[in-house]
Amino acid sequence: MKVAAIGDLHVHESDEGPYRELFVEISNHADVLVLCGDLTNFGKTKEAEILAEDIKFSTIPVIGVLGNHDYECGQPEKVCEILSGAGMIVLDEEAHEIEGVGFAGVKGFLGGFGRGELAPFGEPIVKAFVDEAMNEARKLENQLRTLRTERSVAVLHYSPIVDTIEGEPQAIHQYLGSQRLCDPIDRFDHVKAVVHGHAHHGTYEGRTPLGKPVYNVAQFVLREKFGRPYALIEV
Ligand SMILES: [Fe+2]
Ligand SMILES: [Fe+2]
Repeated sequence: MKVAAIGDLHVHESDEGPYRELFVEISNHADVLVLCGDLTNFGKTKEAEILAEDIKFSTIPVIGVLGNHDYECGQPEKVCEILSGAGMIVLDEEAHEIEGVGFAGVKGFLGGFGRGELAPFGEPIVKAFVDEAMNEARKLENQLRTLRTERSVAVLHYSPIVDTIEGEPQAIHQYLGSQRLCDPIDRFDHVKAVVHGHAHHGTYEGRTPLGKPVYNVAQFVLREKFGRPYALIEV
């Protein structure tokens, strides 16, 4: 299966058919289109409606997750409803199977990596913060556990590893992802690829501790590497 992936679309309310031509082009080159969050710039109704119109131009299945920007207006459910209405499968609680390949996805959360990882210690608000990252990892794990496919793709907005955020200032690494998202990915053999966005100035390719390929498909990273805003990944 040829998977096209793109993150960080950041559709703005003044945009006119921003992804229409691209989605038509991708439909000619891939079997599935995966969107890795920050689909809208502020999570506004109008922004989601503009993207929904463009999604209708894709002739292949469109599946993906929301990003932090899609939460900004406090109505991610509304964004989700509008995009689902256009046929996009928005992953969060339930995995989905397309032509024998499993897709499991969550937005993910921040919290850092290695020595820089925030620990659930002290004030309740710190524990709540870390709990959010753990919850996202749990949701991903539960989805991966339900899949019976030989191959699956994990879809995230935040990064599960540090390799693919290299290029971003070290000082903000802990805001770009969480190592806690990586454990469920390495636990299931059927996960063959991981895609994420969020780190606009990161690195295209990295590996989990067990060697699974992770791709940062933020469109800005892809434009610089491939001269086009989407990745094509064989799964
Ligand atoms: Fe973004
Ligand atoms: Fe983001």
